[in-house]
Amino acid sequence: VNRNLITRMGIASGLVACLVAVTFGFVLRAVEDMREASSRQQASAERLVRLARADARPDVLAREALVGEAAEQRAEDAELRAKTLGVVGIGGSSVLLLLLTWYLAQAIVVPVRRTASAAKRLAAGDLTARVVEEGDAEPVELARSFNRMAASLQAQQGELAGQNRELGSQRLELEHALGQLEAEKRRVERFYRVGERLSSALEIDALAHVALQELGDAAGADVGVLYAVTPDDPRTLSRAATRGLHDADLPGALHPGDGLAGRALAERRTITGARTGQPLRLPAFGREVGVRHEAHVPLRLGDRVLGVVSLARLDDRPFEDSRLYLVERLADQAAVALSNVVSFRRALRQARINRAVLDATPDPVGLFDVEGRLVVQNEPMAVVTSEIGDERDVDLPGEDPDREARDEVTVGARTYSRYAAPVRDATGARMGRVVVLNDVSAERESERMKDEFFALVSHELRTPLTSIIGYLELVLGDEEDLSEDARRFLEVVQRNGKRLLRLVGDMLFVAQVEAGRLSLERSTIDLWAIASEAVEAARPQADRGRVQLGLQADRVPPMLGDRDRFGQMLDNLISNALKFTPDGGHVEVRLLDAGDRAVLEISDDGIGIAPADQAQLFERFYRSQVASERQIQGAGLGLTIVRTIVEAHGGTITLSSREGVGTTFRVELPYQQPALVHEEALA
Ligand SMILES: Nc1ncnc2c1ncn2[C@@H]1O[C@H](COP(=O)(O)OP(=O)(O)O)[C@@H](O)[C@H]1O
Ligand SMILES: [Mg+2]
Repeated sequence: VNRNLITRMGIASGLVACLVAVTFGFVLRAVEDMREASSRQQASAERLVRLARADARPDVLAREALVGEAAEQRAEDAELRAKTLGVVGIGGSSVLLLLLTWYLAQAIVVPVRRTASAAKRLAAGDLTARVVEEGDAEPVELARSFNRMAASLQAQQGELAGQNRELGSQRLELEHALGQLEAEKRRVERFYRVGERLSSALEIDALAHVALQELGDAAGADVGVLYAVTPDDPRTLSRAATRGLHDADLPGALHPGDGLAGRALAERRTITGARTGQPLRLPAFGREVGVRHEAHVPLRLGDRVLGVVSLARLDDRPFEDSRLYLVERLADQAAVALSNVVSFRRALRQARINRAVLDATPDPVGLFDVEGRLVVQNEPMAVVTSEIGDERDVDLPGEDPDREARDEVTVGARTYSRYAAPVRDATGARMGRVVVLNDVSAERESERMKDEFFALVSHELRTPLTSIIGYLELVLGDEEDLSEDARRFLEVVQRNGKRLLRLVGDMLFVAQVEAGRLSLERSTIDLWAIASEAVEAARPQADRGRVQLGLQADRVPPMLGDRDRFGQMLDNLISNALKFTPDGGHVEVRLLDAGDRAVLEISDDGIGIAPADQAQLFERFYRSQVASERQIQGAGLGLTIVRTIVEAHGGTITLSSREGVGTTFRVELPYQQPALVHEEALA
């Protein structure tokens, strides 16, 4: 239980006050006594005086004097008492006051001073300053509060110091990280710079030079040599660059197992070596150098080694691991660049070979890209394109670029057969179109001459033949002058003469078509009449071959056409049917109206046509093997003529046939022919 200072001060003050009051009371009483005694003394003195005047008896006087003396004595006593009491009261109070002051000093001033000095220490930074908690309740409370404050300050300071330390360490970390970042940045910049320098080299030598320089710098090497693959020989490493060494004295090629560098090649890893005794002496420019530390780093790409760089230091400083690490990374980069240059060189060489091959080819060859630009052409093609002026004219116009196409083109005095085909890359995507020209001028010229000869001969044969046949008819017309035998012989001559004339006619027809000189004489014709006549004309042949020949003809509308040519067409088709139908067979000619066109069908139940032959039947001089083997007459011109005539009239001809079953030729002739059809067909 704390002693309460205020209570105690109250009690002490009360005590002093009581003491002063009591002293004061006593003093007042003594003063009162004194005043009473002195007033009595005065009264006795007066009475004495009066008695004396009245000449009172001496005994009364004596008694009265005695009374006065007693009163005086009492007054003196009271005065003495009052003085004594005053002195004692004042002295006691003073002592009490002194005591109280001393006590106050002890109870207040000392703790306050202690607190003040502690506050001073605190202010000076000593946070451990504390005040002793003793004495009365208030000073103790003060000390406690102070101590609490100091403790809290100390705690805060501790916390702050902790935070400071934390901040400090964070700053250090940050600085470290910044340093690392800076180093990383320099490394990346170096890689970038080296990469750029490497990739700008297009020759092995230039690349090797750059690579050796960068790797040597990165390693801090004094001398070095780089062996690398070449486009010609991807298996051997050849000396490609040197640093501070005389090349001529170094081996020209590096093989697996050749010294430390050969080991680096064979084992595909960095090999380092140190010469503790005599340094390795190597020839440098005009002097010799002694190598003490070597590092041989392979230039690897995947599991291939494209080169080895050998680096060396002349003084006794081994290569640091960090530097070797850097060199290895740069070596990886150099390997990629090297591989690119090798591929590039090889591609270039291949391109040159291709070019040379193309140029050595006599036929003009050109490659058009998908936009139709001529991107590659050989020498002969360059001659053609320069003559044409616009090189795009070499390409086949309007053809589907995804399909092969052929045609003929005339450039100046020359005729070329032109072949175009899509060119695809490895993925199958179309890159463009190759156009190959083949000079066929000579062939065309000889064909032209052949046609001329053909036409000439046909013409020259026909005139005498016509004359022979004409005179034969005259001779045979004269019934009487001829013997039976002579008549028979002459009839054979006549038959063969007619055959010959037909053949010549056919040949002339074809020659005219080839020469573009076939002309049609159009008039309004009646197909029904033409078909009937053709069937009737063929009847003797049918009878000879014992083949039944029938006609089933509708009336069809009149149409425009060349009457003789239609007859020729039908004669050919009917005589074919009869020729290729054995004894006892049937041939049927049908004509029907199909609305906008007339349809002619010539069917037989003869030998039929093999599928392989069907496609070629219409070609000039084409005859099936069966026709030749069985010696069935004919020159293979009939169907060519038939088709030419049909197409000249805007029609079509198709056939369906089965071997051993029969054949049907179907001709469709439109009633309305486009005006240009026949001109076009003849062009
Ligand atoms: N009706 C047919 N039946 C079987 N083969 C036919 C028939 N018509 C044509 N051919 C075949 O077509 C070939 C060509 O006919 P064509 O051009 O008229 O020549 P040619 O009659 O002179 O042989 C014939 O050789 C024959 O092999
Ligand atoms: Mg024929």
